[in-house]
Amino acid sequence: HAADALRTDLMTITRYVLNEQSKHPESRGDFTILLSHIVLGCKFVCSSVNKAGLAKLIGLAGETNVQGEEQKKLDVLSNDVFVKALVSSGRTCILVSEEDEEATFVEPALRGRYCVVFDPLDGSSNIDCGVSIGTIFGVYMVKDFTEPTLDQALQPGKNMVAAGYCMYGSSCTLVLSTGSGVNGFTLDPSLGEFILTHPDIKIPKKGKIYSVNEGNAKNWDGPTAKYVENCKFPKEGSSPKSLRYIGSMVADVHRTLLYGGIFLYPADKKSPSGKLRVLYEVFPMSFLMEQAGGQAFTGKERVKTCFLPVVV
Ligand code: AHG
Ligand code: MN
Ligand code: MN
Ligand code: MN
Repeated sequence: HAADALRTDLMTITRYVLNEQSKHPESRGDFTILLSHIVLGCKFVCSSVNKAGLAKLIGLAGETNVQGEEQKKLDVLSNDVFVKALVSSGRTCILVSEEDEEATFVEPALRGRYCVVFDPLDGSSNIDCGVSIGTIFGVYMVKDFTEPTLDQALQPGKNMVAAGYCMYGSSCTLVLSTGSGVNGFTLDPSLGEFILTHPDIKIPKKGKIYSVNEGNAKNWDGPTAKYVENCKFPKEGSSPKSLRYIGSMVADVHRTLLYGGIFLYPADKKSPSGKLRVLYEVFPMSFLMEQAGGQAFTGKERVKTCFLPVVV
C-alpha cells in the first residue's frame, strides 16, 4: 500500500504550532512568527553544513569568542544568520549568543516580547570531519519589553517558555518543546519543510548507555570517577553499560532522548563549574529532558532552579 510507505498527512512544524496556538484563544501568534524565523535559521545552517567542504566553510574564522575559543567560519556564519533572522522577526527584544560578547538589544521599532538565548553552532570541533553538529535555543518571555535589561535574559531555566535544538546529522532534525511535551520534526529537503516524525518523545525509563568525555577522568572528583567506574564494572549480576560520546552536546543529548541513558559533563579541576554553558546549552537541554520525562541535575540539585549546573 503506497500510503503506508509514504507519509501523506504532512504535519509541518508551522501547522503543529498553529494547532497548539488555537488552543489558547488569547494567543496572538507571536511565537509562531518567532519560531518560523528560528526554523529559517536552522534550514540555512543545515544547507551550509551540507556543503561546508565545497563552499570553503571549513576551518577557522580568525577570531576568539568570549569563552576563549577560536571561532570556526561556521560558528560566525550561523551566528550572523540567527541574529539577523531573530531581529527581523520583530518578536524579540534581547538576544544572547555564545558567539557574541555582549547581548544584542533589538532596536525599538523591531522589539517584541521574547528573549532568545542560543548556541548557533554546537559541536564546532566536529565541523571539519563531518560529524553531527547542531543549534540550541531557549526562549524567555520579557514582561516589559519596551525597556529591556540584561537581567531579563539572565533568568533561571524554570522561566523558559520554550526550548529546542536542531541537529545537522544523517538527517536534519528539529526537537522542540513549548512546555507540553517534546516533538521531533525532520527536514524534508525536497519540500524545505520540517515534518513531525517523532511525536511526543519520552525518554526510555532505562538506558544502557553512558556518555562522557572520559579523557578528563584524571581531573574528576571521587564520586564522579566512582559513578563512571561502576558503569564499566557494575556489581555482580548487572551488565556493563555501553559508552557513546560524540562531543557535540546536541547529538549526545539527542541520542540520550531517543535511546535512554545518561549524558554528563562533570566539573573537573580544569573547569570547576563544568564546561557546558548554563544559559544556552544546559537550560534548554534540561527543559527538553524534563519535558520528555527525564531529569537534569547539577550533581547537587535540579538544573532548572539554579545557576551553576554542571551535569545533565
Ligand atoms: P561548542 O561547539 O558550541 O563550543 O560546544 C561544545 C561543547 C558541547 O557541544 C560538547 O558537549 C562539549 O563541548 C564537548 O567538549 P569536549 O570536547 O571537552 O568533550
Ligand atoms: Mn564554542
Ligand atoms: Mn555548544
Ligand atoms: Mn557553539
